[in-house]
Amino acid sequence: MLSINIQELPIQQKQAWLQYAVAPRPIAFASTIDKNGNGNLSPFSFFNLFSINPPIVIFSPSRSGRDNHLKHTLQNILEVPEVVINICDYNMVQQMSLSSCEFPKEVDEFIKAGFTKEKSSLIKPPMVKEAKVKMECKVNEVKSLGDNAGAGQLVIAEVLCMHVDESILNTEGTMIDHKKFHQVARLGGDYYAVMNQQNLFTVPKPNKELGIGVDALPESIKNSKTLTGNDLGLLANVQSMPFINPAFDDERLKSIIQYFSVNPHEMENELHLYAKELLEKGNVNDAWQVLLTGENV
Ligand SMILES: Cc1cc2nc3c(=O)[nH]c(=O)nc-3n(C[C@H](O)[C@H](O)[C@H](O)COP(=O)(O)O)c2cc1C
Repeated sequence: MLSINIQELPIQQKQAWLQYAVAPRPIAFASTIDKNGNGNLSPFSFFNLFSINPPIVIFSPSRSGRDNHLKHTLQNILEVPEVVINICDYNMVQQMSLSSCEFPKEVDEFIKAGFTKEKSSLIKPPMVKEAKVKMECKVNEVKSLGDNAGAGQLVIAEVLCMHVDESILNTEGTMIDHKKFHQVARLGGDYYAVMNQQNLFTVPKPNKELGIGVDALPESIKNSKTLTGNDLGLLANVQSMPFINPAFDDERLKSIIQYFSVNPHEMENELHLYAKELLEKGNVNDAWQVLLTGENV
């Protein structure tokens, strides 16, 4: 494995290694104004949600890696501590990228990138009309991480009000539907990722009950050459060690046992392959039955 001493790298390489590794990152499309009311709109992927109560998001307009200047967004926030965080989606990605050019301070990126201003309800900076989610925030604190070029400047912002376009809600209108909201995230270099049906999946998570843990799995399952870490994670997520269910009647299981009865090693392999298929279909109980039967042949 390649070990990289990040501390010793020149800034561009530091940035590249870290940004390729810590990815994908959501994009805060931040709208701010200066004390004279001039607007600014810029994207920031050093951004995430950090607290629910209070509702806090943090993004970081860093000191420029090239010449150490303070970004206009930060200058504005120091003058008017308010920001609208618009969430970037696929329909706006090219215009969003255009807005990240280092236009002079007096240039309004809303106009340059062709976005429409929409009046906010609680704060002075305008929202991006085209964005499907917008959060009106007051800035509680700016925490500087240093004075060097590339040093993060954390903008700690409290969400006062959220606006969500109905087109991205579920059919009941009660929550955002991940299949309808194509958020864009930044990776390393020029790479981006988009949320869509193909890359969406769920992971069943017990909220109250504890899973038995991988350490509690039988050795033959834990050391399987066929079952992967994901498979073991699913199996070990049950709340108690399952028992063989005598009512479990499965033709394929029976034929594996019959066919491979002279070769226990092959039989275990086949049973693990079958269990793996069942796990891929989300059928954890049947996978356990197949594996337990194999343990007891
Ligand atoms: C998708 C994307 C994400 C970006 N994320 C950041 C970031 O997290 N921090 C940062 O300092 N610059 C980031 N940039 C670069 C800024 O958007 C760029 O420096 C911009 O000119 C800053 O504008 P301002 O000086 O008007 O605030 C990003 C650019 C793009 C296209």
